[in-house]
Amino acid sequence: MAVLVTGGAGYIGSHTSIELLEAGHEVIIVDNLCNSDKIVLERIKELSGKSPKFYEIDITDKEKMEVVFKENKINSIIHFAALKAVGESVAMPVEYYSNNLISTLVLFELMKKYNVKNFVFSSSATVYGDPEKLPILEDSSLSVTNPYGRTKLMIEDMLRDIYYADNSLNIAILRYFNPIGAHKSGIIGEEPNGIPNNIMPYITKVAVGQLPHLNVFGDDYNTVDGTGVRDYIHVLDLAHGHVKALEKLSENPGIVTYNLGTGRGYSVLELVKAFSKASGKEIPYKITDRRPGDIASCYSDPTKAEKELGWKAKYGIDEMCEDSWRWQSQNPNGYKK
Ligand code: NAD
Ligand code: WQD
Repeated sequence: MAVLVTGGAGYIGSHTSIELLEAGHEVIIVDNLCNSDKIVLERIKELSGKSPKFYEIDITDKEKMEVVFKENKINSIIHFAALKAVGESVAMPVEYYSNNLISTLVLFELMKKYNVKNFVFSSSATVYGDPEKLPILEDSSLSVTNPYGRTKLMIEDMLRDIYYADNSLNIAILRYFNPIGAHKSGIIGEEPNGIPNNIMPYITKVAVGQLPHLNVFGDDYNTVDGTGVRDYIHVLDLAHGHVKALEKLSENPGIVTYNLGTGRGYSVLELVKAFSKASGKEIPYKITDRRPGDIASCYSDPTKAEKELGWKAKYGIDEMCEDSWRWQSQNPNGYKK
């Protein structure tokens, strides 16, 4: 029985595919490569010693997707595929709603038709909006402020409705905090298009000399040093969390929701310091205005995942920085030669 991994050529999907293959799962990747590179498939094979089956398909294309369900005995779906840039979603809401929602609906329809019962969804801490209480628990109130976040919350709501109508399903909603880091080999990692929006790829591009300095978005928040605090989590820990989530679904838990974070927040300046220590590179920075839509602090209470999944993040900030740096320094142009 196979696991269908949508978006498996992307940053988190590629690391998770390796983890799944190493745990003995059969993996089928579907990706249209709109934000990834085919070479990732070769690297997954190199690192795991196994070849996932690969379909280059846009998931919004139901006819083509149906072939995947016909040709394979799919037991579970891990749904990573989505557009994910917050700022871009504000400028291009139609593309975001269309891609993220239609692809997910196609999967729901095919799951029903082909009797697939297990579904793991990539949600995000963004669904907590500006949290009322820290650390954030899974039952905190939900609110979103941009179209990207809204697609995540809408899909979560759809999943709750779908489960209500069919209790034979098993659904894990995983809310990731801030993924950084890369595979220990340094041959797969995060490759954003153009100038990075997220902080870690921005820092690594400053470190390799492709960007002059980091802009620190505000130093007047009510935090340890005035800069924004986030719960950074190693992508390898996230990948492992998906294997644990699949194990959980095999126990027929119904619909379950977990925070995947470390439970520890770091400020922007603490992250910069940790990165400099890990890489031996000074990161020049300038304090600028706050970025619209940013919040002061966001970090998880990951206790529920620990208790119910037996999952706990094992990598600390130093290893996250070392591994992000290994990937960027070995591949200054990402997957491009
Ligand atoms: P990514 O862009 O690296 O990976 C997503 C993959 O999906 C890409 O390979 C892309 O080509 C593919 N894709 C997108 N739309 C598709 C479609 N219609 N058909 C087929 N393939 C399609 O992103 P990531 O960082 O690996 O994120 C994976 C998931 O985790 C996303 O759902 C994202 O919203 C969620 N998430 C990411 C973060 C983060 O900071 N990286 C945080 C929280 C949640
Ligand atoms: C982290 C901190 C910034 C860039 C976003 C999405 C969220 C999730 C993860 C998908 C903040 C500061 C950043 C820079 C900076 N993605 N910063 N200079 O905003 O917490 O979360 O990615 O689901 O939905 O909103 O992550 O990495 O952009 O920012 O000072 O150039 O770094 O202000 O405090 P964020 P980020």
